[in-house]
Amino acid sequence: MCGIVGYVGFQDCPLILLDALKRLEYRGYDSAGIAVIQNGRLLCHRTVGKLINLERLLLTQPVSGHIGIGHTRWATHGAPSEINAHPHVVDKVAVVHNGIIENYVALRQELEDKGTRFSSQTDTEVIAQLIALYLKEGNSFEEAVCNTIARLEGSFALGILCADEPETLIAVRQESPLILGFGEGEYFIASDAPALLPYTKKVHFMNDGEMAVITPTGVTLKDFSGNLLPYEVTEIPWSPLLAEKAGYKHFMQKEIFEQPRAIIDTFRGRIYPNKGEVVFEEFNLSQEEIKEIEKIWIVACGTSWHAGLVGKYMLERLCRIPVEVDLGSEFRYRDPIINKKMLLVLISQSGETADTLAAMREGKRKGAKTLAICNVLGSTIARECDYVIYTHAGPEIGVASTKAFTTQLTVLYLLTLYFAKRLGKLDEMKVKEYLSQLMVLPGKIEKILDDTKSIEELAIKYSKVEDFLYLGRGVYFPIALEGALKLKEISYIHAEAYAAGEMKHGPIALIDENMPVVILAPKGETFEKIRSNMEEVLSRKGRVIALTEPECQEIAAKAEDTIFIPPLENSFLKAILLTVPLQLLAYYIAVFRGTDIDQPRNLAKSVTVE
Ligand code: F6R
Repeated sequence: MCGIVGYVGFQDCPLILLDALKRLEYRGYDSAGIAVIQNGRLLCHRTVGKLINLERLLLTQPVSGHIGIGHTRWATHGAPSEINAHPHVVDKVAVVHNGIIENYVALRQELEDKGTRFSSQTDTEVIAQLIALYLKEGNSFEEAVCNTIARLEGSFALGILCADEPETLIAVRQESPLILGFGEGEYFIASDAPALLPYTKKVHFMNDGEMAVITPTGVTLKDFSGNLLPYEVTEIPWSPLLAEKAGYKHFMQKEIFEQPRAIIDTFRGRIYPNKGEVVFEEFNLSQEEIKEIEKIWIVACGTSWHAGLVGKYMLERLCRIPVEVDLGSEFRYRDPIINKKMLLVLISQSGETADTLAAMREGKRKGAKTLAICNVLGSTIARECDYVIYTHAGPEIGVASTKAFTTQLTVLYLLTLYFAKRLGKLDEMKVKEYLSQLMVLPGKIEKILDDTKSIEELAIKYSKVEDFLYLGRGVYFPIALEGALKLKEISYIHAEAYAAGEMKHGPIALIDENMPVVILAPKGETFEKIRSNMEEVLSRKGRVIALTEPECQEIAAKAEDTIFIPPLENSFLKAILLTVPLQLLAYYIAVFRGTDIDQPRNLAKSVTVE
């Protein structure tokens, strides 16, 4: 979704703004712009498409100044066009906005009735128009902003400049993320931490209802009525290098290859293999409180929802607590039956997904305890939940989620052991065994990543196909869903996933000699069943790509192609392991199709609108 950056300090800022915007590219956008105050004049440049277009424009029409704002826009109101791109400039005011102004139609009408002429179709322009109007009425910059905010309904993170006060940047947050960065004699704003990592790691995560007045001498934080507020500076633990490609062709490729490290970082410090113990600093329900949990709800969207589906298998199997998994966008509108004896687990890489956030608030309102499994420190979901367990995946820049997913599964696995031990469902010996199996997982993933040649060859072979079917059973069904999602997101190939037993109830009609069917067929309790499903596909001449273990040669003998994963006993961990070849297959197919892998069309990394 839209990305906001801003700078106030001693350096010439257009290149800083551009660089910071590039670091937010992963959020998804279709146009971009910056506004800078140069010798008391507001100069604004906007272009449609990628940032390279803005960069080219700035080469031919350079600007210079020590204060500026920048924006990448993901169109919601009004088509992607230069006129709708941000910043929106009205008279002496420039505004960048992330979010949605819900009452913009009424505000626009009111302003038009007073003779205001609008130049764009955006909801954002009403903000710039209102501020300009209040300035004309004799208000100061800050007063004009406060008066405007009081009129807005909806979500908004704002960066605002005014040529009358050429040393002041005002930042506002209401239900849309925004952070303040503190350098030496310079200050920044950004939608997300990766934008600021090369400049500063010291940040304040703005809360809803906060307004920051930023000048070269410092930051003043206020509420929307102008009362002073304290701010809290947090140090972001991520190294700037984690947000670079480090020699990989794409962020997605780098993030796939980072998974062994990310998984280790996620369990490190939380497991005591010799004691058969899992501890979470940030989540410390008493044994009594855990025993009182009647049901666990897991709510998430997209890939994180797939992680939740896997979590259901883990938690129900080992803890014997009923678990219901729902999509954020569905949960909030179906008056879910939820009460204070239930635990609501929200899974979100970004911690800003609007549907998941709304589900969390709904659950809280109904009295449930809330736990976030989240990757982004200080994100809204992480802060608003009663408890948070961070995945330590590091910044995920590729729009298609990879290491966030496998680290979410790692946390769910740890959470399952944590509960199972406290509920008396697993003894110390058993937890020790499960932990020792987890500790070998990163090495097994390394093995897959060490030799990707055969997967690359498969990718060439299947890169021209337009439909794929993915089948899995039990805990491998959500992995099939995730494999299909990865493929469609980055290669634009139509891919569907089914629980393999469900195939005969409809999707089997699709199978002919042109249909590749990816079948997850590792050893284990559903092996015989999935083998029969594979026979059903073969007898209709489907092209089977099997994922299995070296021991299962009978699968390899029948499949057209086989990807072997290293052997592993534990089916939950095998689900994590199976994810990796599916990510690689999707990735290499997309490479051969030449798509924009890190920023696939129409997708946004952090979906902050409904
Ligand atoms: C898919 C993907 C999305 C996200 C979804 C939820 O690769 O990245 O499906 O998983 O938008 O995002 P978070 O986890 O940030 O809440």
